Formats: sequence, C-alpha cells, structure tokens
Amino acid sequence: MTEKPTFYITTPIYYPSAKLHIGHTYCTSIADSMARFKRLCGYDVMFLTGSDEHGQKIEDKAKEAGVTPIEYVDGIVKLFKQLWEELNITNDDFIRTTEERHTKVVQMLFQRAYDKGDIYLGKYEGWYCVPDETFWPENKLTEEKTCPDCGRALQRVSEDAYFFRMSKYADRWLTFIDEHPDFIEPLSRRNEMIQFVKNGLEDLCVSRTSFTWGVPVPFDPKHVVYVWFDALVNYITAIGIMDNPEMFKKYWPADVHLVGKEIVRFHSIIWPIMLMSLDIPLPKKIYGHGWLIVDGEKMSKSLGNVVDPIPLIHEFGSDAIRYYLLNDIQLGQDGNFSRKRLINRINSDLSNDLGNLLYRTLSMVEKYRNGHLYQGDPTGDEIVRDASAEVRHHGEETLAAFRKNMDDWKINDALKGVWTYIRSLNKYIDITMPWALAKDENKKATLDAVLYHLCEGMRFVSLMVEPFIPLAAEKMWNQLGLTDFAKANYNDLTWGGIADDTEVHKGDPIFPRIDIKEEEAEEEEKVIKEPHLPGISIDDFFKTELRVAEILTAEKVKKSKKLLKLTVSLGNGEERTVVSGISEYYEPSALIGKHVIFVANLKPAKLMGIESQGMILAASKDDKLVVPFVDMPAGSRVK
Ligand code: MSP
Repeated sequence: MTEKPTFYITTPIYYPSAKLHIGHTYCTSIADSMARFKRLCGYDVMFLTGSDEHGQKIEDKAKEAGVTPIEYVDGIVKLFKQLWEELNITNDDFIRTTEERHTKVVQMLFQRAYDKGDIYLGKYEGWYCVPDETFWPENKLTEEKTCPDCGRALQRVSEDAYFFRMSKYADRWLTFIDEHPDFIEPLSRRNEMIQFVKNGLEDLCVSRTSFTWGVPVPFDPKHVVYVWFDALVNYITAIGIMDNPEMFKKYWPADVHLVGKEIVRFHSIIWPIMLMSLDIPLPKKIYGHGWLIVDGEKMSKSLGNVVDPIPLIHEFGSDAIRYYLLNDIQLGQDGNFSRKRLINRINSDLSNDLGNLLYRTLSMVEKYRNGHLYQGDPTGDEIVRDASAEVRHHGEETLAAFRKNMDDWKINDALKGVWTYIRSLNKYIDITMPWALAKDENKKATLDAVLYHLCEGMRFVSLMVEPFIPLAAEKMWNQLGLTDFAKANYNDLTWGGIADDTEVHKGDPIFPRIDIKEEEAEEEEKVIKEPHLPGISIDDFFKTELRVAEILTAEKVKKSKKLLKLTVSLGNGEERTVVSGISEYYEPSALIGKHVIFVANLKPAKLMGIESQGMILAASKDDKLVVPFVDMPAGSRVK
C-alpha cells in the first residue's frame, strides 16, 4: 500500500486570558476547513490547535481573579475545547504549553541555542505591551508610549535578560525569502516583512525576570523563557520532536501555519530564525489572514463590541456560522462581522439555494418515483438531453476548479464556484420541468434522468461543502440515500456513482429560514435606498484615475479627531501624502501595509495645514466609514 501524502496545518495557540470571540473562531474555522478539504483529497492530515498559557498577561489575570495561574487557565481552556467541539472542529491534537511534553522541549531548545552561542545574557531597557506580550524598544515609539500594534499603554521594563541573536541571521532570512516566494502569503504581508527585516533586525529579548509564570531557563532559573519563544515551539512539540521521531519526520516541516495578520511577524521572522539557529527545517508557508471587525471597529472589551460565538452557534447552528465566516470575509483581508449579513447568507445561500434544492428534488423523487432513483435516459428530449449534459460537465468542472482554488488558498472563490453550481441545478429544474414530464407516461425515462442528474449534482455538492458545513453535508448525503459518508473522498468522486434503484430519505429542510425581525428588514431597506446620483457617461467616469495604493505610514493628525495623515505608495517609487477622515474607525498601525483604492488625480488640497495629494475610497454606512482593502499590487489601475 502506498503511503498517503501528509498535510500538517496549525492555528495559533490562543491565550487563555479570556474566552474566545468570533475573531478567534474565524481563524480556527479556516484551518478546520482546510484540514477537512485535504482529508477529502486523500491526505494524512495533522491539524493542531492549543493554548498559550504562560506569560505576564496570564499571571496578572490570575492574580486579579485571586487564583493560581494554572487554576485560571484550566477553567478557560475548558471553554476553548467546548467551543471547538460545538463548532465541529476536527483538530487531531490540542497542545497546552503548560504540559510537560512541551516545557521540556522549550528547555532543550533554549539550551541548544545557548550552547551554540546564539543566546547571550544582557539587560533589557525598554517597553513592553502586556496584552500582546511584545517588547518595544524606545526608538520604535512615539511620544505617547503606546503600543504601535494595539494602541494600549505600555509598561516600562528594565531587567536582566537573555537575548537571541536574530541579527546574525538577517541575511540568511532574506535569501530564504527570496528563494521561497510563497513562504509568506498573501503578498502584501510578505512585502511588509521584507521591509521590516531590511530596516534592521535587532536581537530579541527571550527571557524575563520580573515574574515567574513561565518555563524556567534551564541554566539560570531566575529567568523564565519569553512567552513567544515558548509558544512558537508548540508546533514541533506536538508532533514529537523529542518523544516521537517517527511522527516528527512524517509531519515536519509543517505545510502551513495559519495566523492572524498581527502575528505574521513572529511566525515569519522570529520562528524561522529560531529554526535556522536550531538546524531544523523551516515550515512551508505562513498564511496571514485579516481581522474580523465589528461595525468597522476592532473588537475590544472597552468598546463592548466583543461577539461571543457560542450564543450565535446556539441560535443559528455551527454550520451557518462557519459558512458565513468563510464565505463573507475575504481571506487575507479584514472583514466586518454583521448579524444581518449572517442572516441574509443563511436565508439566501443556505436555506434558499441549497436547502430548497435538496428538499424540492427529494420531494419530487418521492412523489413521482416513490422515493427511488433510476439512471433513466435523457436522450428522448432535446432540451433535457442538452441541459443534463451541461449539468454533468459543469459538475465535473466545478469540482476541478474547487480543488484548485482550495489548494491555492482561494477559499472564497472555491465557495463561489460551488454556489454557482447549486444555482445552476435550481435552474435545471426550471428548464426541464419535471412536473410536466411526470404527467406523460412516455417520458418516464426522461424524468428519471432529470431526477438522477439533480441527485448526482447534489452528491458532488455535498462533498464539496463538507469542509465548510459538515453537518449539512452529511445530512444531504444520507438524504440522497448514500452511505459511508466518512469514507467518501474527491478522488473517487466520478459522475454516475449513485447506484440504480437507490432509495432516498427526504428529511426536514436542512436550513430552515430565519425570520428577519422587522426592524432589521427596515435597516436593510435604508441601506439599499440611499439615493443615487444623476447618471454620468463612461467618459466622465474615466476622468477619475483610480489606482491601488499601499499604505506605508499612518499617524493621527494632531488636534484632529477625524483625520489621519498617511503616506501611500503608488508603485514604481511614487509616493503621496494624503489626509483621510478615517481616524475614528481605524488605528493607524492597523492600516500599514494595507492596499486600498486611491483617487490619484485629485487636485491637491490643504487640510489642517497638510497638503493632501489624493483620496482613499471608503464606503459609508450608518455614519461610519469602512475602507475596502484589496489584494492587488500598488499602482494597479482600477477600472
Ligand atoms: N498566543 C498568541 C499566539 C501564539 S502562536 C505560537 C496569540 N494569541 S491570541 O489569542 O491573542 O490570538 C490568536 C489568534 O487570534 C491570532 O492569530 C489573532 O490574529 C487571532 N485573532 C484575534 N482577534 C481576531 C479578530 N478580531 N479577527 C481575526 N482573528 C483574530 O496571539
């Protein structure tokens, strides 16, 4: 028997400082869909998630709660596991950094890097962001001494510390990135990281002495290992770097570490350099997804806009939440979470397009053929013959494109293709009119062929949607009268697989419609009814030079609540300064590296004494502004 190819995928390990919100759920849902997809492609998949339990933040939180750190994290980690179960996450392991299997690996690797001369003792003088567990040297900060990433207050730190010789590896890192163009994706994050390293890589502080909740440095136990050095190692602990060399050989290097955009730096610079120092091969890819924001704002306790996934799962079901997150948010970009859009997606895509197709078809199979499917023969009716050939051809093409898109991390396109196919199956019913065929005794074989093609198409759909809506996919499979869902896979999925005389089992609709509350419907109306401007000719439109611009720097304009000063690149070395009225909706640091649509031929105007040389496009809703981010190279013309 030939060995299956392997696929090792990881999520970040989450801090158990509070329960997880919908943003964390987003990340794990992406990873789970990819893991499920690869299993259906025949891979031996290892899917890892876990919890990052050490560090100052957790120690502080436990103190606040009046319990020991381990008691504190035990309680929260239980909630993590419960959430993943409720969301049907299929992780193969769950690693906790407080486990002995992990701490001994951290100590071994720290010692190894020290023995090699890559870790040395020094003193750290600077600032620290406790919520992000990040060091910020003086020269990276503005006067306000807030975290450049999250904007929160920093703590002054002055303590003895071990340092890791990152700087020694900068050139090797740059060569590696050059030779591995797909290592960091999407492209915009790759460019950001290259810029970061080119600006000069400093040695990294890798131990702390002002608290004790961490892995002790083996040769100097006054120090605990810096939580990020500790955390990153989880990816090799769990596959047995110390305990199970065979497993390690099988799965390492990881195929992908899926992470949120703000921790791409840790994964694509610090982690690879740690591995270089330790002579361990580098992972194949770091994929940085965007953030889920709520009404244009980052979720935060202080804003009171944190969305808890558990009540949503209970209200709408896990499949609906997974589908919404994966379909509605463009992978790689930030996306807005909206309950209304969630309900719309459930009603239109899941209930109307998919659920109705299944229900309608199986009702006809029951009504006209007593619940039995026969291959039939479409050739007796020209319209049915052609439409059926198209349904088959389109089904096979959709599957091939779906697999390619998923392999290329184009999850949104993959889903879009499947739904186009689902809609075409609905149209096939309208074209072939089975109810009319059923009235004609001579058209029995034609009717059978139509019902068979519909069910065959849905068999394809069921397996393609499994990575996203696994519960519904299995229900579909079973209702179609098929068995052994767990054994099905894409390689065996060929047209004509439903055996003659298969009996279907129609059930309740798989996605009941959600009643949109009146006030919600009204709000939708309001958005749609925004007045249109008078029409213009295409020539008038083309007078506007729209280009993709990359935001290079962003800062608040002094004394202004609304304005940000940005510099943007239009490619080929062309830079512009622009003043934009989005300060209330975006943290400056969250914009850096983003690609936006830019009006490049506006006459310059002065705002608060600054010359603004263009304009960034934003969509407005409920008096808020949301900037659409795009994943295209700076300078591209938008038409
Ligand atoms: N513990 C570190 C990761 C260590 S990995 C070796 C950490 N934990 S975290 O809990 O703060 O964040 C974990 C992941 O959740 C990150 O990838 C982060 O981007 C993601 N998200 C947190 N808030 C998010 C959104 N609002 N939207 C999408 N993802 C979000 O960082």
